[in-house]
Amino acid sequence: MTAFSLLQLPLVAMEHVLCMMNPLELIDVSLASSRAKRSVKFFSKTKKKYSVVFDNRWHLISLCGDGTMWTLQMTTSEACTGQYLTKKYSENPLKDIMNWFDHAKEVLQCEINNVTLDLNYPSSENRQTVDWLAAQGSTMNYMEVLNSGEESGDDLKEDDLRYLMEKIQASKVFMLMVKKYKADFRMEIPGKPYHLHIENAQFIDYDQLLRLESPVIILRESILTSQEINRFLKSWMSCETHLELEAMQINISSRNAMNEIMNLPYERTNDPKLIEAFADYPHHFKITFDMITIQRCDGEKKVTGAFALSPDGSCCLFLLVH
Ligand SMILES: *[C@@H]1O[C@H](CO)[C@@H](O)[C@H](O)[C@H]1NC(C)=O
Ligand SMILES: *[C@@H]1O[C@H](CO)[C@@H](O)[C@H](O)[C@H]1NC(C)=O
Repeated sequence: MTAFSLLQLPLVAMEHVLCMMNPLELIDVSLASSRAKRSVKFFSKTKKKYSVVFDNRWHLISLCGDGTMWTLQMTTSEACTGQYLTKKYSENPLKDIMNWFDHAKEVLQCEINNVTLDLNYPSSENRQTVDWLAAQGSTMNYMEVLNSGEESGDDLKEDDLRYLMEKIQASKVFMLMVKKYKADFRMEIPGKPYHLHIENAQFIDYDQLLRLESPVIILRESILTSQEINRFLKSWMSCETHLELEAMQINISSRNAMNEIMNLPYERTNDPKLIEAFADYPHHFKITFDMITIQRCDGEKKVTGAFALSPDGSCCLFLLVH
């Protein structure tokens, strides 16, 4: 049915038809005329809002609701329409997906809360994307940042990453998946994402670790030494830092390093409840070695540490506060 004949229908009948449309179809209808736009907007007012995913690698927007996800992708190659994925041909995919969403968000009254950003684009384009996202809202639930060019040797545009960090922060999950930095790279992590994952934590020194306030902290390729991790645990024990910590993962040099790290008053345990807790979020890990528990000085909390081998073979310390 064309938008034109749709608008000829009585209100109740029209609502009936709109009800059967997915959000991408609703937007198509709303693009037909200003009257169509008003009708769809009015219709959407009382409906549940979609949560929105933006990914600049594929120039796509996904609208998620009721367990289903509808995706629109702008592409310089072939267009196609499927049930859940529509690809539209575009000469300028970034600009067109932005324009499309600027229209969609007004009609469906939804906002972007989940972003994946690849910084392997010219700086001007990175900044345009960041500015546009920041205008949508300065806090995202979920943000993932990567540099797909590093495999082929393209350096990270560090200034663009800093620019992004100044403008947008993540409240629930922040995944910094960049793997290569220049040796002298430094950067603060803004805000307090609930779950902070840093794939290459070479820029996080001991003082910066003390400033990280996220309840869940995952540090890969960390440069912190066993002594520093031991100091960190002491600072936690004496209630000086990380009062909100719930879980942490950090790589260590070997299983023997546990002796130095856990050079504190501790208790060994193999409590099945703790084994179960390690198997759950965020560790998802089956404990095979003894666990060690230390107590905070106020007696309110304990932290249990376990040695783990991660899939890539590196040694890790897993911590769980309870
Ligand atoms: C954000 O979107 C990505 C990609 O669709 C998905 O894997 C991830 O689970 C989403 N995160 C949240 C918190 O919705
Ligand atoms: C953690 O991994 C990084 C990178 O592989 C390595 O340089 C560092 O020494 C490791 N940390 C420890 C304590 O061994």
